[in-house]
Amino acid sequence: MEYIHAKYDYIPGAPRERAEKYGPVVRMNAFHRISVLIVSPEGVKEFLMSPQHPKDPIVYGTLFSLFGERFIGNGLVTVCNHEHWRKQRRIMDPAFSRSYLIGLMETFNEKAEELMEKLEEKADGKTEFSMLSMMSRVTMDIIGKVAFGLELNALRDDQTPLPNAVTKVMEGLNKARVPFLRFMPGKQKLVKEVRESVRLLRRVAKECIDRRREAIQNGKEATMDILTQILKGAALEETRDDENILDNFITFFVAGHETSANQMTFTVMALGQHPEILERAQAEVDEVLGAKRDVDYEDLGKLTYLSQILKESLRLYPPVSGTLRRLEKELVINDITIPANTTVFVSPIHHQQLLAAPVNPNLNTYIMGRMEKFFKDPLTFDPDRFSKDAPKPYYCYFPFSLGPRSCIGQVFAQMEVKVVMAKLLQRFEFQLVPGQSFKLLEAGTLRPLDGVICKLKPRISARGCKA
Ligand code: HEM
Repeated sequence: MEYIHAKYDYIPGAPRERAEKYGPVVRMNAFHRISVLIVSPEGVKEFLMSPQHPKDPIVYGTLFSLFGERFIGNGLVTVCNHEHWRKQRRIMDPAFSRSYLIGLMETFNEKAEELMEKLEEKADGKTEFSMLSMMSRVTMDIIGKVAFGLELNALRDDQTPLPNAVTKVMEGLNKARVPFLRFMPGKQKLVKEVRESVRLLRRVAKECIDRRREAIQNGKEATMDILTQILKGAALEETRDDENILDNFITFFVAGHETSANQMTFTVMALGQHPEILERAQAEVDEVLGAKRDVDYEDLGKLTYLSQILKESLRLYPPVSGTLRRLEKELVINDITIPANTTVFVSPIHHQQLLAAPVNPNLNTYIMGRMEKFFKDPLTFDPDRFSKDAPKPYYCYFPFSLGPRSCIGQVFAQMEVKVVMAKLLQRFEFQLVPGQSFKLLEAGTLRPLDGVICKLKPRISARGCKA
């Protein structure tokens, strides 16, 4: 143990101190493990762009199972072996091609419209509700439908089993970081519920896959959705590994909904705190959509200020707070030698507001998106940083990660989020209920601790568009 510390002692660092003070390479001590945090563009480029540095199997391996139940196993997010990953990714790519995504606009609109109907019921200027909960329900319905052809009805019915199981599993993921929680007497109920929820998810996945296989066998044309791609991938393998298919089903389910929900909720929070930005966004939406019900694909490109807002929201509040790599051979970065076999953490943020959280010490408390060096006046929410003429950030802004292991769902997510946000801005005035902390919670994903409690009123715009 001492040896481990001695081996890294020359790298500047102190847990939870600011990377600005120590960067560009910072040592972090977490229990007996030491990781190195990278906060320089050179380091980010080296670790994210090169396939030479695999994801860290020690860290990603912890997601293989949850309280002893296989969870996301070797799915696309957690698989660390480069060859295994490359094969899976190549097969999945067509389900995220532009032409396929354009075809999803109808579902994005349909589900977003259902959300608007639910919100209308609450829009009396008095009813208080958690925006995060509503956003999670709409993104869950969307991913269920477009990825797997499932109608989950999370928006219509809050008792429906699958969404509840997902919520439980997310809670379990968060709690599982407490060492030995699985064996604590007071936690047995939670552990049991989480394990049952994981089993339910995998069972539903199995049924869904069997139905689809049967349909394909009966000559029914398969929709080109995520599930079809997962099955195609599996068909190419020499040995059929149904467990790996289930891993990917759950991977897409989990990766594909909470992140987008968090982004939308943080954006509502930021807009509620900046009325002048909100007004400009509403004016743009009125200009582009007017009183039209649905958002067309062509409209997305015209909503440029909304795009800037969404990018700025991801800068300050990136739902995924970083990524981990395994450095296999010694490497010199910014004149600092990092020893072989080190876990390297690359993160776009500094969780300065992360005060309420049961923080995983392996996750960082450090900046890039929030460093003065990279962004002037970094804690100010200013969408103009991303205006057309502004200089492009250089390896210091990467909410979807970068390089080969970057998010496959980036374009999907930004289309989905824009449709929902555009409709919300078109239809409602919203107010943040006072007394909330607006703290961030690092719980697997980065999310608003209080869920962003809002009140709504229907909006009557200058063009007479009424909710
Ligand atoms: C705002 C929304 C989203 C954000 C901020 C986000 C962010 C990220 C980040 C940072 C990674 C890299 C993770 C790592 O290195 O461990 C990632 C990977 C991934 N994301 Fe997303 N994501 C979002 C939405 C989505 C959606 C909608 C889907 C699916 C429909 C998705 C599917 C995936 C998958 C499968 C990977 C693994 C890719 C690979 O390694 O090949 N994500 N995402």
